Amino acid sequence: MNQNVVLITGDGIGPEITSSVCTIFKEAGVPISWIEAPAGLRAYEDTGNPLPEETLNLIKEHKIALKAPLTTPVGKGFRSANVTLRQTLDLYANVRPVKSLPGVQTAYPDVDIVTFRENTQGLYIGHERVIDPDNVELIGLITRKASERIIRAACEYATKYNLKKVTLGHKANILKESTGLFLKIGYEVAKEYPKVEFSDMIIDNMAMQLVMRPQQFDVIVTTNLFGDIMSDLASGLVGGLGVTPGANIGENYAVFEAVHGSAPDIAGQNKANPTALLFSALMMLRHLDMNEHYERIHAAALKTLADTEVRTADLGGKGTTASFTEALCRNLN
Ligand code: NAI
Ligand code: MG
Repeated sequence: MNQNVVLITGDGIGPEITSSVCTIFKEAGVPISWIEAPAGLRAYEDTGNPLPEETLNLIKEHKIALKAPLTTPVGKGFRSANVTLRQTLDLYANVRPVKSLPGVQTAYPDVDIVTFRENTQGLYIGHERVIDPDNVELIGLITRKASERIIRAACEYATKYNLKKVTLGHKANILKESTGLFLKIGYEVAKEYPKVEFSDMIIDNMAMQLVMRPQQFDVIVTTNLFGDIMSDLASGLVGGLGVTPGANIGENYAVFEAVHGSAPDIAGQNKANPTALLFSALMMLRHLDMNEHYERIHAAALKTLADTEVRTADLGGKGTTASFTEALCRNLN
């Protein structure tokens, strides 16, 4: 029986890159039935709701979704459907692996880092109070429950995949109570994982260390906004947003998505790199224990990415979304 997966094709480059992933999965014979559901700017324009109830219900029913990027208007407009999705489904762990790709020229050949970003609170709870037109108060939230489970998820991952170090990023020198609590809980939880080498780093130093000596990190765990920035930085170490996958994982549901946005500057031009969404879909296959399909597609992707004739322009290649997809399908066999 096929596994049902909810598919959100999203905005901007979303439809092009989801079509690429579906083509590759079909060619590889992955036993998945896609159930399309709307979200984002197009859904908002069509239905007045960027995250229609029907979409939420489908994810609740099938538990797993693959989601292309959604456009969120800056300033006035609707609240991010991504943030609503993460909060409604309590997808508390945002997991972003970055690993150097053979043949892709970057600053270092040997980066292998997984960032665990707390996904439900911090400064993302959306509490912005306009005091008057020239003054705005921003309120964040750090709780023991949310901190414990994200730090535990990072330590569990390190244990499962035999990774040595977990480094917690914080700003407890300035934000003493909030990120101070996160730091304190970090050391409490770490006691349960004696095999994991646990340490902490002030977040601005971590940014510098990531650029200077990224090899020192295995797993990074941090709060929401810091995690957003650090994981994008890490993505730049391995070829950028076009190749970095992500997963939003909770107790009951999991939504897999690329780190990048809807890239309106290149949308509809056959230029988008589908690799990040493809790698997100591969994380999904591992999550579903479809390991043979994972291995086969992953090997074909690495082979295709190493070829400058076929990889896309963001990686210095000459390929398009379509030609890259075709080459990858050929490399499956
Ligand atoms: P972006 O990630 O869309 O684009 C940043 C730069 O990276 C652009 O130059 C873009 O062309 C390039 N890029 C991104 N993905 C690429 C790919 N697959 N292949 C080749 N080049 C790629 O970030 P930006 O411009 O900040 O945001 C655009 C929109 O996306 C906004 O509305 C934002 O809210 C939304 N967004 C949505 C996310 C999601 O749905 N998870 C995540 C981040 C942003
Ligand atoms: Mg980001």
